[in-house]
Amino acid sequence: MPPSPHTALNADAVKLAYRRWAMVYDTVFGSISSFGRRCAVTEVNRLPGTKVLEVGVGTGLALPSYNFDKRITGIDLSTDMLKKARQRVARHNLSNVENLFEMDAEATDFETGSFDIAVGMFVASVVPNPDRLFAELKRVVKPGGHILFVNHFLAQKGMRYYIERVMAPASKALGWHPDFSIESLLPPEALQRAVLQPVRPFGLFTLVHLVR
Ligand SMILES: C[S@@+](CC[C@H](N)C(=O)[O-])C[C@H]1O[C@@H](n2cnc3c(N)ncnc32)[C@H](O)[C@@H]1O
Repeated sequence: MPPSPHTALNADAVKLAYRRWAMVYDTVFGSISSFGRRCAVTEVNRLPGTKVLEVGVGTGLALPSYNFDKRITGIDLSTDMLKKARQRVARHNLSNVENLFEMDAEATDFETGSFDIAVGMFVASVVPNPDRLFAELKRVVKPGGHILFVNHFLAQKGMRYYIERVMAPASKALGWHPDFSIESLLPPEALQRAVLQPVRPFGLFTLVHLVR
């Protein structure tokens, strides 16, 4: 069994947490996570294929950075975060953002093989069941397509490991799991094939890339 985070967040807890976060999310979290987001979108932009699914699109911070030939569908559980994303799309006139749906990334309405690329930025440690998230992305991405995540994963040792363990009980208030391990997301076979790249600041986040 993969180690699972101490405190599980269910869908209602996610919605409640992000109702609170929506107003201040960009100010509080936007800049610390910007490099990781940029790395993931740069990778998406250089990959073949045009149909992109962004899961946990949030306030849509990444949306203006996609190349215009990428046709984006974004989904999120939180009405309040999506409202911000829709405002951003209108503000930047992002006609390549085709859809923004309120939808659970663990169980989407999309047909099998609908997308060339799926990307989840800072969402894997928030969803109630990360293993189901990965299984669903595998289903909706075409064989030969690409699955990317950028996320914070539990440190293996050292001071960060202890800090993250201590912070774990605050998961509900934070809206993410500080003690989230990569094994909770990827089964061993996928973990073996995944390309992992630490990203700034301080390698706190990791870019994960898998070919479907
Ligand atoms: C930390 S925010 C990341 C937002 C955005 N990806 C970014 O880079 O700023 C996590 C987002 O995932 C969403 N989320 C959590 N669980 C989800 C699920 N099962 N399906 C869809 N979205 C989910 C939350 O509502 C929230 O907007």
